Amino acid sequence: MASEFNRLCEEAAAYHAHLNKYVADSMVVYNEDALTVMRRILDKHPNGCFDMIFADPPYLLSNDGFTCQNGKMVSVNKGGWDKSQGLAADLAFYEEWLRLCYALLKPNGTIWVCGTHHNIYLVGYLMQTIGYHILNNITWEKPNPPPNLSCRFFTHSTETLLWAKKNKKAKHTFHYDVMKAQNGDKQMKCVWQITPPGKAEKALGKHPTQKPLALLERCIQAASNEGDLIFDPFMGSGTTGVAALQHGRYFCGCEMDETFFELARKRLMAE
Ligand SMILES: C[S@@+](CC[C@H](N)C(=O)[O-])C[C@H]1O[C@@H](n2cnc3c(N)ncnc32)[C@H](O)[C@@H]1O
Repeated sequence: MASEFNRLCEEAAAYHAHLNKYVADSMVVYNEDALTVMRRILDKHPNGCFDMIFADPPYLLSNDGFTCQNGKMVSVNKGGWDKSQGLAADLAFYEEWLRLCYALLKPNGTIWVCGTHHNIYLVGYLMQTIGYHILNNITWEKPNPPPNLSCRFFTHSTETLLWAKKNKKAKHTFHYDVMKAQNGDKQMKCVWQITPPGKAEKALGKHPTQKPLALLERCIQAASNEGDLIFDPFMGSGTTGVAALQHGRYFCGCEMDETFFELARKRLMAE
């Protein structure tokens, strides 16, 4: 893992003049389009190099609707990056990055992909088309969700994580005992109650769809080993990287937005 990480660092150095901005002890992060970066890494690592991938892609839910935040009516729009481009274009984009992730995963590696009903069925369909074998459908339940303002359907209070390996025969990592110990010595179920990130996790800045550190810690502790190399193509504020570094893993991530990239870099350097 360390040697693969060192090669990634050398490759990053070839593309970036200010190496210290992008590469630190155990991480290499790119302020670039993830697809461009993944194609470049694949050129040099045709057999894959990542032990685990966590992908929290645009959910395509910025449709001009409204939600409730701190008692106020606010737009659901997260930014231009989260707008649907129509089903055909969304499908093409999702297919391309999911295929690149497949190629970049090591034979026994696993991938986690997050979503809601806006994107997760697309992910499930494409995963099966590409050849992934789905291991679990995790439901992340938010204990205190914002109320539904329209009162015309149920309050949204969950997100989904699909956890998959490259094929049925692959020998994936699952730390069953660690998960059981974290769950009062009972088997960990596939419904996880975790609160959204609080103020402390946003101390260095805010991202509109920041994931809680506890969620990433669970995925990483369940499905990877110390010294593994973890990749996040859509790192946003860098939560995956923070959890990876805190648990002794190497991290590689991409974020195309400069402001979010700087936030991620600050959070990662603080580790
Ligand atoms: C759902 S957010 C990720 C949030 C992240 N998990 C966190 O905890 O902060 C998705 C991120 O992907 C970025 N993004 C969208 N398309 C991208 C692309 N093609 N390449 C790299 N980043 C992209 C967006 O700018 C956004 O910050």
